[in-house]
Amino acid sequence: MNITPLGADELPEVSALLGANGLPIADLSPAIRFLGVRDRVGLEGVVGVERHGELGLLRSLAVRQDRRESGLGSALVMELERLAAEDRLSGLYLLTTTAERFFARRGYARVAREDVPTEIRQTSEFASVCPSTAVVMRKSIHRSGA
Ligand SMILES: CC(C)(COP(=O)(O)OP(=O)(O)OC[C@H]1O[C@@H](n2cnc3c(N)ncnc32)[C@H](O)[C@@H]1OP(=O)(O)O)[C@@H](O)C(=O)NCCC(=O)NCCS
Repeated sequence: MNITPLGADELPEVSALLGANGLPIADLSPAIRFLGVRDRVGLEGVVGVERHGELGLLRSLAVRQDRRESGLGSALVMELERLAAEDRLSGLYLLTTTAERFFARRGYARVAREDVPTEIRQTSEFASVCPSTAVVMRKSIHRSGA
């Protein structure tokens, strides 16, 4: 499995995969760093991170339907965490309405909205999701070489 950074020219494909999975696409921007995996058909899976100071907002995780449950989603999250550690981030936050169990099994814990730092609260994803249905989760990142 070859997980690589995705370029700006690949954004339309990213957007199509996210849209097909019901994830937000209106606020995709060059500030989001995307990683992805491809096969001959196209993009199999994607994940993104928005950096805000020492913190990251993990977002846009989606695996193409025919490639689910073979470890791809986990591999994308692990690679993103590895890069976050390399970039010396201290923690990753995420919002989810669909994948709380998936992330809980990968070390993410629920956080009360009032405990979320301002820089994460001010992101467009945070501002746009419905507070009554979306769960906020956090994982500490152990910085490389710290
Ligand atoms: C959430 C999502 C990204 C998971 O992707 P995935 O590639 O299926 O993830 P994985 O294969 O790594 O793990 C999924 C499950 O399959 C299991 N699995 C992993 N490898 C497996 C294998 N080789 N054989 C059988 N099962 C396997 C895992 O144990 C996992 O179960 P768990 O969460 O109970 O531990 C995918 O379901 C998706 O795109 N959902 C729609 C979009 C979405 O909700 N995104 C989250 C937004 S925050």
